[in-house]
Amino acid sequence: MSSKRFENKTIIVTGAAGGIGEAYARALAAEGANVVVADLADEKGKQVAADIGGLYVSTDVADEESAKALAAATVDAYGSIDGLVNNAAIYGGMKLDFLITVPWDYYKKFMSVNLDGALNVTRAVYPHMTNGGGAIVNQSSTAAWLYSGFYGLAKVGVNGLTQQLATELGGQNIRVNAIAPGPIDTEATRTTTPKEMVADIVNRLPLKRFGTPEDLVGMCLFLLSEEAGWITGQIFNVDGGQVIRS
Ligand SMILES: NC(=O)c1ccc[n+]([C@@H]2O[C@H](COP(=O)([O-])OP(=O)(O)OC[C@H]3O[C@@H](n4cnc5c(N)ncnc54)[C@H](O)[C@@H]3O)[C@@H](O)[C@H]2O)c1
Repeated sequence: MSSKRFENKTIIVTGAAGGIGEAYARALAAEGANVVVADLADEKGKQVAADIGGLYVSTDVADEESAKALAAATVDAYGSIDGLVNNAAIYGGMKLDFLITVPWDYYKKFMSVNLDGALNVTRAVYPHMTNGGGAIVNQSSTAAWLYSGFYGLAKVGVNGLTQQLATELGGQNIRVNAIAPGPIDTEATRTTTPKEMVADIVNRLPLKRFGTPEDLVGMCLFLLSEEAGWITGQIFNVDGGQVIRS
């Protein structure tokens, strides 16, 4: 097996200005991919793209025109698109509230990014997957199976979206899978989830440590690669055993 699995492949990673998305972008570039960093955080996003020799495109995943402009800029730079990682979400600094009390405006904005954002970018990108197919990886969370209010509800939606899109796009050899990470040590988690809560969650994991973005990289790159050529519509937990489904 070649050590550079993504030579001549073009892959967009949304939300890659920091945290998990940045780790994916760096790992993909190290394996030879043309990486497009798509984020709202322009300064950090440009820095990541510059570090890895990729392209930065300022993008709001919730906006249809912005997603189309992302696809167009990618095709202009690299000709076509082979992979998409729908990782962007409102997570770092998110409001902590309940489904029954969260203000509707906040809820609707949140869902437009955390659920519809993945569909919006997929709709803009898939017509350009013209190299005999493509691979899409959606970022879910174990929150989909645990109580976590509207954050978890959006991830339930991401899981459903993964299954439905896999069916719609399979005929074009476009595979759609999701990764459901457990608690991951990113700046966003450190600033959003109270320390005691994280310590309690980690203590209850079968593998008793906080996950790192690097723990997720292997699964993401596998799902984007040809080794996963007959895998679609699946949600893979990378979570230290946090959720064991029967
Ligand atoms: N950190 C964890 O414990 C954990 C666990 C499970 C799942 N996840 C998921 O992993 C992903 C990344 O998490 P992270 O910890 O790196 O958090 P993060 O907040 O650092 O990453 C989210 C990124 O998305 C970007 N973003 C937000 N809204 C956007 C928009 N409208 N358009 C474009 N970009 C936008 C942000 O600028 C940021 O760079 C998220 O989908 C999150 O829900 C995280």
